[in-house]
Amino acid sequence: MKFFLDTANVERIRYFAEMGLVDGITTNPSLIAKEGRDFKEVISQITEIVDGPISAEVVSTEAVGMIEEARELAAIHENIVIKIPMTREGIKATHQLASKGIRVNMTLVFSPAQALLAAKAGARYVSPFIGRLDDISTDGLDMVAQIRAILDNYDFECEIIAASIRHPLHVIGVAKMGVDIATIPPDVMDKLFNHPLTDIGLERFLKDWENAFAKR
Ligand code: G3P
Repeated sequence: MKFFLDTANVERIRYFAEMGLVDGITTNPSLIAKEGRDFKEVISQITEIVDGPISAEVVSTEAVGMIEEARELAAIHENIVIKIPMTREGIKATHQLASKGIRVNMTLVFSPAQALLAAKAGARYVSPFIGRLDDISTDGLDMVAQIRAILDNYDFECEIIAASIRHPLHVIGVAKMGVDIATIPPDVMDKLFNHPLTDIGLERFLKDWENAFAKR
């Protein structure tokens, strides 16, 4: 299973990359805006830290504009993947970019039908949003399970990036399904480490050691 970080914050990327936990990065316009920095500058800096797919999203809504933006972004580094929204224009752009060898991550996917269309159009990655579906009382993990089952039936060269992950149970849920990639926000990544019994256990080991040896 590959872990991507869902952030444009280079400090947090560096922090987890040093632990060998980062196989790629996903960003979106909101995450880039949060950093308050130049888009291309941030993306290019990220390519220096992580040697894996880095998703950069277009903001055009028509295929022609998406393709133009995609070409500019793809020119930044060979690891750049173009994130394109799941719309009719997005599908058109995906088809054209895929035929030219530019990898697309189809984003804002909320149903198995949309994921199937994305794979069929040639998207290299499909990003179902789990948390946002949960937000409207629909089971996001169940959507991902259906997408996993569909893609397993065919030979599309399309990996699932489980996105809009909000807590550790989302990560474990998609891992149990054999989902290829989870893109995890840094705060959720932090939570994956935590267990109170680990902290209590370590404290006890160190205290026992100190009592037995350090005070002699
Ligand atoms: O990158 C897209 C996605 O992961 C957004 O997550 O939490 O804003 O729904 P969220």
